[in-house]
Amino acid sequence: MLNSKSCAVLHNNVNIQYIGLGVYNMGDKTIPSINAALKNGYRHIDTATRYKNEKEVGIAIAESGIKREDIFITTKIWNDAQREHRQREAFENSLKMLNMEYVDLYLIHWAIEGCYCETWKVLEKLYEEKLVRAIGVCNFEIHHLKELEKFQSIAPMVNQIEIHPKNTRKELISYCKKEGIVCEAWSPLGSGTLIDNPVLSEIGKKYNKTSAQVMLRWDLQQNIVTVPRSTNPQRIAQNIDIFDFELSDEDMKTIDDMNENQYNSITGADPNNVTF
Ligand code: A2P
Repeated sequence: MLNSKSCAVLHNNVNIQYIGLGVYNMGDKTIPSINAALKNGYRHIDTATRYKNEKEVGIAIAESGIKREDIFITTKIWNDAQREHRQREAFENSLKMLNMEYVDLYLIHWAIEGCYCETWKVLEKLYEEKLVRAIGVCNFEIHHLKELEKFQSIAPMVNQIEIHPKNTRKELISYCKKEGIVCEAWSPLGSGTLIDNPVLSEIGKKYNKTSAQVMLRWDLQQNIVTVPRSTNPQRIAQNIDIFDFELSDEDMKTIDDMNENQYNSITGADPNNVTF
């Protein structure tokens, strides 16, 4: 039976907890939110250079009293560092901001054309030097992964992509599974836009769970790691309380059928056309 400590296993045998706290755009709420998450059993925090809170993540972890090796930290390289060939410097700066000696997972944030294969070689080197326990990508489509395959010595361990009931990404997810790449869902609640969805709320009522819990459980039952974002202690607790029920096959299918291939209207990000 899965529980809140349950992990997906990456292809290099590193474990990653299924539920992590995403800390995008949290600003000064980063530290209290991480405190609430750790209190509720989270041991996985997902940040990025772009989120501008690696320093706060480091402070929260250091002050938590929890051993560094018991917490899984992800950060990501931003697009400017790729375009300007400053990948190594960007990583070293992240380590400094986090005040850590290694990160658990280092990801390429977006597939910047003409740059991401070069960036990948830097990540492979960091992995060989044991400065990162695992390496991966975000927002890579199948064609990006196929292109990368021509250059890689190490296959990505993770692809973190936008996944929620309005954008189920089935083809990409099954390609990643075939290649041994664990998928992670960002925006698993549709950036909050799906909370009031009546189909999800109705399903939730059957299990005495909220629509958010239904969406996160739907990820879990597909072996997808998720990083829901919340600064509210009750909702942070709620989002990890998904291990005591199981969605029926019928309910899984109802959620699958909500797909509209709709990218997040809030970030407006199209992985094939990164203009930022
Ligand atoms: P808040 O921080 O006030 O809880 P996503 O993870 O898809 O990006 O969604 C994040 C958004 O969803 C945030 O606006 C967050 O607001 C909200 N949210 C997170 N968890 C829940 C929840 N369990 N119930 C309702 N809203 C939630």
